[in-house]
Amino acid sequence: MNEFSAVSEATAPGKIILFGEHAVVYGRPAIAAPISQLRAIATVTYSSSNNCYLIAPDLNRHDRLQDLPDDNALAMAARLVLQAAQIDAPPDVTIHVKSQIPIASGMGSGAAIAAAIIRALAQHLNRLDLQNNDMVSALTYEVEKIHHGTPSGIDNTVVAYEQPIYFVRQSPKNQIEPFNVAVPLRFVVADTGVRSSTKVAVGDVRRQYNQQPAQFARIFDECGRIAQAARQAIEAGDTMQAGKLLTENHAWLQKMTVSSPELDHLVDAALQAGALGAKLSGAGRGGNMIALVEEGEMETAVCYALQKAGATATITTILA
Ligand code: PMV
Repeated sequence: MNEFSAVSEATAPGKIILFGEHAVVYGRPAIAAPISQLRAIATVTYSSSNNCYLIAPDLNRHDRLQDLPDDNALAMAARLVLQAAQIDAPPDVTIHVKSQIPIASGMGSGAAIAAAIIRALAQHLNRLDLQNNDMVSALTYEVEKIHHGTPSGIDNTVVAYEQPIYFVRQSPKNQIEPFNVAVPLRFVVADTGVRSSTKVAVGDVRRQYNQQPAQFARIFDECGRIAQAARQAIEAGDTMQAGKLLTENHAWLQKMTVSSPELDHLVDAALQAGALGAKLSGAGRGGNMIALVEEGEMETAVCYALQKAGATATITTILA
């Protein structure tokens, strides 16, 4: 019997941040949920070429692992697994990566791609110990540093565990709590079509925080309070309150300067069409926004309004 699996495949979901982005980097609570219908998929197969290839058609990449620089995220995901497995020479495999998650749009595409590569390669190496959620999350976190600079850890956690989580960044161990959703919540996720770098947005917030520490600490506190209240509302099935808190959170994100005219326009359009609440989701400056809706007429009206207001794509996801 062969020591390694012939074909190994693993997937990881996209994600949305429901409450508390940016403030989460500074230790305030946040809530995120997976989007299971949008996924990154990694497949590892034997290659007869005596090389380890990384192929990502969506990113126009077809490279030998050894030729990729240290700061290449795909290569880093693969190298971290090999390192953890104490394998010096890369195996003769092709790692094929595909993703349905839009890039640079606040949906955790980078984290999902890294998590899928890590799981698929660990599976190929028959290393069960490298496939558990804690390990996948920890290795994905290392890759996230390339995308984010100073990641809070929420993205890697939610894509590795694939469940809604209440998250607080803290030392020595982050607080990660799955929580109860009393009444399913329906979110329309709409894309501005504007790509935005998480690293740049996170860096800008850091600069402003350094210049005005008291004002920004207060904004972060408010976002943390909102995330805490939102968890209570979600656990109590108070959908109206959850909606109000979303819109409130958006206002604080505007004060952080991470919204954009396109995001504000979509948030306004959703609210005017009757959404229970709306906000940007993720790093901001572009990417996606979310609107809380009831199934039926409200959802239809909000989707229509968002498309009319310029959303390049809308999907519905349910937090349950
Ligand atoms: O843009 P995204 O989906 O990668 O989300 C970033 C979330 C931030 O809170 C802005 C950064 C972080 O590391 O938590």
